[in-house]
Amino acid sequence: MKKTKILMVCLGNICRSPLAEGILRSKLDSDAFEIDSVGTGYWHVGDPPDSRSVKVGLKNGIDISDLIGRQLSKEDFVDFDYIYVMDQNNLEDVLEKASSDEQRRKVVMILDTVFPGEKVDVPDPYHGTKEDFERVYEMLDAACTKIAEQL
Ligand code: 4NP
Repeated sequence: MKKTKILMVCLGNICRSPLAEGILRSKLDSDAFEIDSVGTGYWHVGDPPDSRSVKVGLKNGIDISDLIGRQLSKEDFVDFDYIYVMDQNNLEDVLEKASSDEQRRKVVMILDTVFPGEKVDVPDPYHGTKEDFERVYEMLDAACTKIAEQL
């Protein structure tokens, strides 16, 4: 059976989307689901996740230390069934790269799962504090719980 493929997207693919990838993976059966993450930007291609994301993940039993940054590609719109973005900027950047309505329909703001229609961002914690990363973790955990329930 073909696996359902889910892609998490943020700007750098080092703070938010690798955490979302790890959290959702922990809630779904790997025989049925494949989960990946990418950035809209190219700066951190080949890099491991930010150490603050790795730390908050480990604190909650999720190890994302072996993930490697990559950038969103045109093929991702074909390969993946669901594409979750972290904020409005990601949404604009991702929709700009899509090439059909079918592809655009795959793209959803991740917190729409918790606050439908409210367009709530998962704030970029890159220039923030440890507490900002903890808040991001909680938001992503709530969203991934909803996603796992809905799938
Ligand atoms: P992320 O955070 O999008 O959650 O991975 C960022 C990481 C790096 C940069 C921006 C956001 N940066 O500009 O390098």
